[in-house]
Amino acid sequence: MQSKSILIIAAERGLGLALAEQFFQRGWNVTGTARRGTDTSALKAVGRDEPSRLSIAEIDVADAAQIEPFLAQLGERRFDVIFFNAGIWGATHQSVVEATDAEFGEIMLTNTFGPLRLAHRLLGHLAPRGTYCFMSSHRGSITINLEGGLELYRASKVALNMLARGLWASNQDRDLTVLAIHPGWVNTAMGTLDGTVEAEIELEPSVRGVADVVEHHMGSSENLYLDWQGQPLPW
Ligand SMILES: NC(=O)c1ccc[n+]([C@@H]2O[C@H](COP(=O)([O-])OP(=O)(O)OC[C@H]3O[C@@H](n4cnc5c(N)ncnc54)[C@H](OP(=O)(O)O)[C@@H]3O)[C@@H](O)[C@H]2O)c1
Repeated sequence: MQSKSILIIAAERGLGLALAEQFFQRGWNVTGTARRGTDTSALKAVGRDEPSRLSIAEIDVADAAQIEPFLAQLGERRFDVIFFNAGIWGATHQSVVEATDAEFGEIMLTNTFGPLRLAHRLLGHLAPRGTYCFMSSHRGSITINLEGGLELYRASKVALNMLARGLWASNQDRDLTVLAIHPGWVNTAMGTLDGTVEAEIELEPSVRGVADVVEHHMGSSENLYLDWQGQPLPW
């Protein structure tokens, strides 16, 4: 049987790298991306034992000029799953009162607009009944937000969920599956705010759960908002 294939946008550190490792260990063909000039040695090492199943491409989701060259790097390749993982936390204050235009613009461009415009352009690189996954967050839930705060990050992820829904709704003739996934509060540079706070879970259980969720729901033609344990989140 042919291996399943995944393209992970932002896979050279943090959750993206751990996901690349997880899917590779499950026998998938993995293509991971990094931004130009970043260290991809850890991502390369994922494919150490079977380099033919691992490839690397280059894209900064915040730079529209990189989309065409990126598509050219992919050539004729089609993927069963494309996972949009790139994201930033944004300004430390997280406040719409304090935010500058540039701070609000940067987080929306990186976490929302960048991934979605790329997703629209990548439709031709999805295999039939393919699946898009977006690294969302429970912070993107309107229902769960009863305490306020974290305004910039929440705004970017709730808008990500909405644009992902729109992409799904307008492509139902393709039997597109779109999953918005919360990975848990995970021990990464972002999850620990660069080592200043403690996260709730380690990388391995998070990405094992996320990969289980993907394998369970891929090809279902649904649009779901789920956490790393497969529990539905309220929108
Ligand atoms: N950790 C958590 O607790 C948690 C919880 C919920 C959701 N998430 C989400 O999970 C995703 C990954 O987060 P993480 O915790 O692994 O954070 P991380 O360790 O800070 O990694 C962020 C990743 O995003 C990439 N990235 C940032 N801006 C980019 C851009 N403009 N173009 C392409 N790639 C870009 C980074 O690449 P560079 O190395 O080039 O900067 C890096 O690979 C994010 O979307 C985040 O919002 C994380």
